[in-house]
Amino acid sequence: MRDLRKFLLFVAAACALSVAGACVSAPEQGAGGGGGAGTGGASKVGPVRIGFSMDTLKEERWQRDKLLVEQRAKEIGAVLDVQVANGDDSVQTKQCDNMLTKGVDVLIVAPHNGEIAASIVEAAHKQNVPVISYDRLIKNSDVDLYVSHQVEKMGEMQGKYALDRVPKGNYILIGGAPTDNNALLLRKGQMNILKPAVDRRDVKVISDQFAKEWKADEALRITEDALTRTGNDIQAVVASNDGTAGGAISALEAAKVNGKVLVTGQDAQLDAVQRIAEGRQTMTIYKPIKPLADSAVDNAIKLARKEPITAPDRVNNGKIDVPSILQEPQAVDKDNLMSTIIKDGYHPMEKVYEKVPREQWPKATASRAASRASARPRPQASPSSFRNSRSSKT
Ligand code: GAL
Repeated sequence: MRDLRKFLLFVAAACALSVAGACVSAPEQGAGGGGGAGTGGASKVGPVRIGFSMDTLKEERWQRDKLLVEQRAKEIGAVLDVQVANGDDSVQTKQCDNMLTKGVDVLIVAPHNGEIAASIVEAAHKQNVPVISYDRLIKNSDVDLYVSHQVEKMGEMQGKYALDRVPKGNYILIGGAPTDNNALLLRKGQMNILKPAVDRRDVKVISDQFAKEWKADEALRITEDALTRTGNDIQAVVASNDGTAGGAISALEAAKVNGKVLVTGQDAQLDAVQRIAEGRQTMTIYKPIKPLADSAVDNAIKLARKEPITAPDRVNNGKIDVPSILQEPQAVDKDNLMSTIIKDGYHPMEKVYEKVPREQWPKATASRAASRASARPRPQASPSSFRNSRSSKT
């Protein structure tokens, strides 16, 4: 009896000491979270091999996602292969095929095209490899888990922010890539709020378009066109992300109306929060990436081992209600930059206010936050750790 207790204590201690990736448990039959695939990796001993297929690194946020997924995988002892498709569906499909051939145990996919990526899920499931849909939903498939933010709510936040401040006027709506389910959800959320005002004719939608590939120059063209058609009579631009906000702002600045026009955004990327600090962009949606990256990696391990996962939400993808874990977004403008993005160490204060004369920096709280930020480890990788924090390709 005593020996048995000693042995059990030894096993418990050994497991506690070992990092999660090294302490691979035997498969628990039928415990998989999404109910889709079984796993090729569950029966093997050794670290879980994760394939992370990304659409793009164009926006700063995706560089952060890559970095944080890499960090988490390293922390828990998983082996990670990251492939970036640069907006090409056939490349993304091939890269996933290659990772499956090499024998990954689980795939995390941030799809370029949510419809086309269904074939990736099918191919993976044929090999009993589970798939996590990352940030963007993979449509019409038996994808095992969806990890993202509350995207429709983000659209509502953008719409509400604009309508609270500009209850009447001419609006431009700039959506993202029509191939990205997030772009459609954002527009849905924006219209949940704006439609009653449009119906009352308080808000007139001058332009309602989607920017291919989330391109800033598409947003610039859409904004220029609406400015020309109205003789610069625009009061609000509901841009779906910071990249498109940047394009719209270039057009507004060229027409010398920026500052008078409310502009929304999303992603809290550095150039956008700098514009907010300068008064050139009105707001953004801040969605911390670390909880997303961590939940993707942690649940990838669980799915690979057929362990149960906790996914409180369900999102229908046209085929099934996908078990989902959706993080909370937050609206950020110049009034709460300090208490959100800077407090969290998402971007350092020195960078955010770089283009603002020092005497105009937020006062007492500013120096406290700056010293706090330098005194403690940052929960989010900051862009200073990115090699190229600005996109080279638009
Ligand atoms: C969306 C994503 C946004 C933004 C955009 C452009 O799917 O939710 O955060 O980055 O893609 O890549």
